Amino acid sequence: MSKERLQRNIEKAQHEIDTKKDLVKNGSMRQKYHFMAQTGWINDPNGLIYFQGNYHFFFQYNPYHGFWDSMYWGHAVSRDLLHWEYLPPALAPSETYDDHPKGGCFSGSAIERDGRLYLMYTATTNAGEGFEQTQCLAYSEDGIHFEKYEGNPLVKAPAGIPADQFRDPKIWKHEDFYYMVVGACKEERGMALLYRSADLIHWEFWNVLFESRGEWGRMWECPDFYQLGDKYVLTFSPIASGDHTAVWLSGQFDYETGRFCPERSGEIDWGLDYYAPQSFLAPDGRRITVGWANGWEWMPQWKDWGPSFQEGWCGFFNVPREVRMLKDGSLQYLPVRELEALREKPCRIQELFVTEEERELIAGDGICFEMKFRIDLERTDAKSLELDLRCGKGKKTACVFDFEKGQLSVNRNNADGWSRGTSRSVLFLKGKQELDVHIFSDQSSIELFSDQYRNNHSNNVFAGNTQRMIKVHAYGGTAAIVDYESYGLQCCF
Ligand code: FRU
Repeated sequence: MSKERLQRNIEKAQHEIDTKKDLVKNGSMRQKYHFMAQTGWINDPNGLIYFQGNYHFFFQYNPYHGFWDSMYWGHAVSRDLLHWEYLPPALAPSETYDDHPKGGCFSGSAIERDGRLYLMYTATTNAGEGFEQTQCLAYSEDGIHFEKYEGNPLVKAPAGIPADQFRDPKIWKHEDFYYMVVGACKEERGMALLYRSADLIHWEFWNVLFESRGEWGRMWECPDFYQLGDKYVLTFSPIASGDHTAVWLSGQFDYETGRFCPERSGEIDWGLDYYAPQSFLAPDGRRITVGWANGWEWMPQWKDWGPSFQEGWCGFFNVPREVRMLKDGSLQYLPVRELEALREKPCRIQELFVTEEERELIAGDGICFEMKFRIDLERTDAKSLELDLRCGKGKKTACVFDFEKGQLSVNRNNADGWSRGTSRSVLFLKGKQELDVHIFSDQSSIELFSDQYRNNHSNNVFAGNTQRMIKVHAYGGTAAIVDYESYGLQCCF
């Protein structure tokens, strides 16, 4: 009976997608190489995994409208992380434990066991006692059609943890056990809870993996935990933690005690549109992570609906990034090398001395492009360097490298008539001879990577097709740009 309900709800959603997808596809703000859904709203990446020869991408999904509502799990597969084949939604609300009309099937992760694909997700319901979140399992033989486990829900919030703040399980296997971290909070302090299981069904609460003392928000969404080299990494998206929307901690972990001792911390991305990253292992051993470019374009209390919402969709995912660790324990987030296959129309300039006089730069069509260069700090005496992207009609998105203040900022207050805000981060320049810069621009986004991929800014920009000039100038002296290279990027959809 409930199996049929799941099937029916998936078919209904698929019918909705099929009816709208051709119209939505023509939207002028649609991305050209960033993964997104065919219609409707998306948020967190879920259940990323390489399974039976394909990368599987599941995601929080409202196939019906361009706003957040009752959540499904959208689904697509790819062989190269660039070109995606859409599959029917994998999960739909269908059970009394996951059918909250403003909830549904929340975020989670995937794991393979004996050739089967398992999804662990957060189910949401109004159990008569308010909004309740529990951890549930679904499984599939073919990686396409899923059944929910009849013994769901498997894990309820432990004593002392609010039942409406207990979500986003990330599972992995180590030796003979499965482990799971779940985001939670206690007394308004975010935390990650650690569980252990021998069979994916029976879970034992193991420990508080790590918790905020107030410095990292009041609830941790979408925690992730993995080994990288001889250290361990915990990432999460804290609620109410100012500019911190995707935090990493690296340090030591002991499977005997279940305690994580961080030694370093940092921000995965300082941009205004990066949230809820989830990682997985590629077959070649790379740790790859994907974040949600979290543009909220519609809220009932807002008067205006955003540019992509008006085209019947909202949200996309930032480019997949490979995570690496430097000797000092700091993390680098590099756009995956697969993206190089999209390059066309190369342009190279060996040296460029930028003064206060504005100059134009060439990169693809000025909309979909990749740009890479280094700033030679020893030959730079300017106070700052401003790189203006998506310029036209008196508008621009200004990327400012302020050498004097030691600040990197991306200002989109005059970007497109819709977007607002400036993302800012500290530029650590002391003792450095040069600063590396790498940019990916798509129809509606700019991702800037700097300082060995440790200082990154992802921002959505809805600049349409007429804003396509790139300009650069310095303030108070000369800035030396070396090894400038740029490429147009081919469309994947
Ligand atoms: C993060 C989040 C998760 C939750 C999901 C619901 O963006 O709030 O904590 O599982 O989105 O869509």
